[in-house]
Amino acid sequence: MALRFAFIELALFGLGSALVSKDGVTGRLPAMGWNSWNEYECAINETVFLTVGELLVSLGLKDLGYTHVNIDDCWSDKEIQRDNVTGKINPDYKKFPQGIKHTADEIHKLGLKLGIYGDAGTLTCALYAGSLGHEELDAQTFAEWGIDYLKYDNCNVPHEWDDEYRWWPDNWRGGPPNEDQTAGGVGDSNQAVAPPGYDWTTSKTFDRYKTMRDALLATNRTIEYSQCAWGHAHIDEWGNSTGHSWRMWGDIHPVWPVVTTILNHAAFFYNSSNFWGHADYDMLEVGNGDLTIEENRSHFAMWAALKSPLIIGTPLDGIKPEILAILANKELIAFNQDPIHGESAKPYKWGVNPDFSWNQSHPAEYWSGESSKGTHVFVLNTLDTTQNKTVDFAEVPGLDAKTEYTVIDSWTGKEQGRFQGKYHAVVERHDTMAIRIVKAGSSGYNFQKILW
Ligand SMILES: *[C@@H]1O[C@H](CO)[C@@H](O)[C@H](O)[C@H]1NC(C)=O
Ligand SMILES: *[C@@H]1O[C@H](CO)[C@@H](O)[C@H](O)[C@H]1NC(C)=O
Ligand SMILES: *[C@@H]1O[C@H](CO)[C@@H](O)[C@H](O)[C@H]1NC(C)=O
Ligand SMILES: *[C@@H]1O[C@H](CO)[C@@H](O)[C@H](O)[C@H]1NC(C)=O
Ligand SMILES: *[C@@H]1O[C@H](CO)[C@@H](O)[C@H](O)[C@H]1NC(C)=O
Ligand SMILES: *[C@@H]1O[C@H](CO)[C@@H](O)[C@H](O)[C@H]1NC(C)=O
Ligand SMILES: *[C@@H]1O[C@H](CO)[C@@H](O)[C@H](O)[C@H]1NC(C)=O
Ligand SMILES: *[C@@H]1O[C@H](CO)[C@@H](O)[C@H](O)[C@H]1NC(C)=O
Repeated sequence: MALRFAFIELALFGLGSALVSKDGVTGRLPAMGWNSWNEYECAINETVFLTVGELLVSLGLKDLGYTHVNIDDCWSDKEIQRDNVTGKINPDYKKFPQGIKHTADEIHKLGLKLGIYGDAGTLTCALYAGSLGHEELDAQTFAEWGIDYLKYDNCNVPHEWDDEYRWWPDNWRGGPPNEDQTAGGVGDSNQAVAPPGYDWTTSKTFDRYKTMRDALLATNRTIEYSQCAWGHAHIDEWGNSTGHSWRMWGDIHPVWPVVTTILNHAAFFYNSSNFWGHADYDMLEVGNGDLTIEENRSHFAMWAALKSPLIIGTPLDGIKPEILAILANKELIAFNQDPIHGESAKPYKWGVNPDFSWNQSHPAEYWSGESSKGTHVFVLNTLDTTQNKTVDFAEVPGLDAKTEYTVIDSWTGKEQGRFQGKYHAVVERHDTMAIRIVKAGSSGYNFQKILW
């Protein structure tokens, strides 16, 4: 209990954000960048990252905020995992001939930041050296190399580190917050369901992630901390005290049912995000797999709306102009990166199903949120046919039926005109209407026009 109070106090006095406070900037807003996993998995080398760095600059993505170049799994030497004298993780010199520090130096020359990948178990997911028990040394090593961001995964955790109770978001079916059914035989059924009100900061998962936080804090460098614990042990309840972001779910895949499944979960757990701490719905699959253009758009719009980190996972060389246009959408990025409003968009109506329905194929469709540039509304069409979708201003938090509003289409950036009461638009199958609404003729709006 004493420990828990200590954390609440730390959070209240801003020390909970000590990870971020060395420079007062890092981690305040959701991270934006690129990560190698979705496209290359283990087939990486220094050239991949330096090329991506150059493309982030030349495509204009850096100027839009995409500044992280993140190395995922498989960067270290799989055979000789650690130096037998210093104990440091050995880079794979075949992939990084001059070591990771050289890659970091080159990335920094481009005005970008280099991220690396580690694991809170004995081995990473692809069976390279893990950091459990080596947190301090590994954090120091990353700092020496000039690393700016750590994605810390959750594979190969030894049994003595098993949590007493289990909560895996993938198994949750909309019941009580601690409910965890071992649906489909997923996971370790030896772990019981936690009692109501269970304090998840007493879990071993918390310990493992906090130990790396402390190790990062002890270095002489600000390293953004991305906790990839897949939502386990209700990290949504404590991840803000240990890091800058936390994964909310298992791995994303570039197919529509996974996108809607994650959105359905988000409709019940969006509240944990705000400045300095971000619910991470996993890296972007925009441009990958079997998504249609409309699905690519919805995936990006909703991840931006949820204030998820926006980490591109598609190759940038030869990127299709329509995919680049989605990733470069200024209105959506501005909502995600708003300096004044830190909260995620929230569902205000479900649509296909009654409000608060748990449904992985038809999640909440009507979402809204505030930014310093107005009220943003996101209307997803989860049906398989084109729909005429109506935004009823009386239903949107902060708006009313009487006021006249100017509506801006966030996809085109164009004013749609002035509206009172309702706004409607045709939304293709699996597409998302994204609009920004401001009081008609308000000075705030004119100011925004000047800014943009
Ligand atoms: C996360 O912590 C920071 C400061 O440590 C605080 O400003 C923010 O509101 C917290 N987020 C939530 C959702 O409580
Ligand atoms: C680096 O990796 C990329 C992507 O897997 C590959 O196409 C390229 O041949 C590799 N280059 C070297 C020098 O290994
Ligand atoms: C330590 O590693 C080096 C390089 O791989 C090797 O030559 C040496 O024999 C090892 N020493 C011990 C004590 O294992
Ligand atoms: C820590 O970093 C600061 C600023 O970069 C530097 O002035 C200082 O010498 C460093 N201290 C150590 C112990 O490396
Ligand atoms: C989110 O927080 C708000 C304000 O405290 C509350 O009204 C709402 O019920 C919460 N939503 C969920 C899904 O917990
Ligand atoms: C959306 O992304 C997927 C994956 O690249 C791609 O196959 C598809 O072509 C994209 N949609 C369009 C119409 O470009
Ligand atoms: C999800 O919603 C659809 C549309 O209302 C419905 O047909 C389906 O049965 C629902 N699925 C579940 C698991 O409730
Ligand atoms: C959409 O619905 C509104 C009424 O809700 C109607 O006025 C409008 O004409 C419809 N648009 C289309 C394209 O069907």
